[in-house]
Amino acid sequence: MRFGNVAVTGGNGALGKLVVGDLMRHAEVTALDLRPGPRSIRSRYLDILSFEAVLDALKGHDAAVHLAALLTLEHSEERIFSVNVQGTWNLLEAAHRLGIRRVVLLSSETTTGVITVRRVPRMRPDYLPIDENHPLASIEAYGLSKQVLETLGRSYARRGMEVVVLRPTLIVMPWMQDYVRRVRGIDDPDLWSYVEAKDVVQGVRKSLLLDRPGFDAFYLSAADTFAPEPTLEFLTRVYGSLPEIRKPEIYRSNPFASMWDIAHARTVLGFAPQSDWRRLLEEPAIDETGSVRAAAADGSSGE
Ligand SMILES: NC(=O)c1ccc[n+]([C@@H]2O[C@H](COP(=O)([O-])OP(=O)(O)OC[C@H]3O[C@@H](n4cnc5c(N)ncnc54)[C@H](O)[C@@H]3O)[C@@H](O)[C@H]2O)c1
Repeated sequence: MRFGNVAVTGGNGALGKLVVGDLMRHAEVTALDLRPGPRSIRSRYLDILSFEAVLDALKGHDAAVHLAALLTLEHSEERIFSVNVQGTWNLLEAAHRLGIRRVVLLSSETTTGVITVRRVPRMRPDYLPIDENHPLASIEAYGLSKQVLETLGRSYARRGMEVVVLRPTLIVMPWMQDYVRRVRGIDDPDLWSYVEAKDVVQGVRKSLLLDRPGFDAFYLSAADTFAPEPTLEFLTRVYGSLPEIRKPEIYRSNPFASMWDIAHARTVLGFAPQSDWRRLLEEPAIDETGSVRAAAADGSSGE
């Protein structure tokens, strides 16, 4: 690992715990979070909205991974925008003042507007698969807050910081087997895009290993979807007709291929996704602590 002391904001969240667990094998890691975490994780409790607290907590670190954010429907649009945008500025400004060289920012595929959190009208992709040159066009607070996060990242990169932006699709945590089973039977949940958490963890680790990235952004997705129909078939149904298909060979070789282009992540980041929803469903069900869940009396997996 290039960095000996890594701070992870949101390190006690769903993805954060997995990221911290992985990075702890390579570096000294501190989770910075409002939420308490497991005892195995060294945590410092702070509100990302307090610039002074962030500045103090980042001292002694040489890299930061920024995961702290609000993302779900239980929070208002105002709150999501303010925590995600002000929190990112606080993190980047504090890191800049302390001379922290590398920052990894968790963005999202919702920046495109093609996927939304609030089911507001979605944008139609200009072309497929969607790569990092595709316009960003969110029209809701969460996606917009991540667009601003990326703009902030570029600004600090211009001042010499190394900033890597990751845009995962829906992250399937190891305990989300029931979710995958359920939504395969529902029409069009987030266009059935997904990436397993372990691949995002891999993406974060590889972002810290990159040699002098300057500023760069990467989509992180499984190679496929978990849709019951081939990708171009359900997208024709969703959009009425298909947008331009720039890499038809991807859908010829795998009709269930992702609508997100991970070629840039594969080539530059060395991203090698292992996401496989079929394998996930065969694994023993675990809960959020990683313990194997007792089988339900009727043999179903619960929920
Ligand atoms: N889960 C997904 O499907 C998904 C997809 C794409 C991107 N992301 C991004 O990945 C990151 C992690 O998401 P997650 O699914 O683990 O979410 P999560 O809600 O489980 O984790 C977010 C963490 O941020 C912390 N946090 C929130 N507000 C804070 C504040 N004011 N100060 C300090 N800490 C605060 C929370 O306590 C929590 O531990 C987020 O940046 C999210 O936008 C998630």
